[in-house]
Amino acid sequence: MERDEAIALLDEYVHNQNLVRHMLAVEAAMEDYAERLGENPSEWALAGLLHDFDWEIHPTLEEHPQEGAPILRERGVPEGIVTCILSHAEHTGVPRETTMQRALYACDEITGLITAVALVRPSRSILDVKLKSIRKKWRDKRFAANVNREDIAKGAEALGVELWDHIENVLHSMKSIAPELGMTGESSPDTG
Ligand SMILES: [Fe+2]
Ligand SMILES: [Fe+2]
Repeated sequence: MERDEAIALLDEYVHNQNLVRHMLAVEAAMEDYAERLGENPSEWALAGLLHDFDWEIHPTLEEHPQEGAPILRERGVPEGIVTCILSHAEHTGVPRETTMQRALYACDEITGLITAVALVRPSRSILDVKLKSIRKKWRDKRFAANVNREDIAKGAEALGVELWDHIENVLHSMKSIAPELGMTGESSPDTG
């Protein structure tokens, strides 16, 4: 599946712009990691881009992401990517055995914390987010309380990257697509 086909699939299934942007953020992080690790960037990117495509039609863990898998297969998404997407959710029971699977898990939740930190900058721009501000918010458990810090730490460890190196990598990836994320501070992501 080519990227434009994946984008068309998102157009069809996802209406919430913030969810689209979450997947774009994970896509960018996955692509960068694949490049860093000498893996296949377009394959890794596709896993990131599609990993939550079914969240709006399957908004519970009884359904997501396992019931999305047959749709992906039907659309011609390679099995390695489908398995990777299944593995991002603990409850599917699909183990994370490949580096691509570990990277997807590691990149998923951290994008939420980085986004939340950007939105409380006066500029609301991700370009103004420094690692230092993320550290401060990381320690403040009331901030973005739904973001599970332990899962993020566990994900980085499984990927074999030091936690703050990992967060810096993902921040860098997200900054590289700030306009696509609607996070240059020029327009609010909420107005999407
Ligand atoms: Fe998910
Ligand atoms: Fe996600």
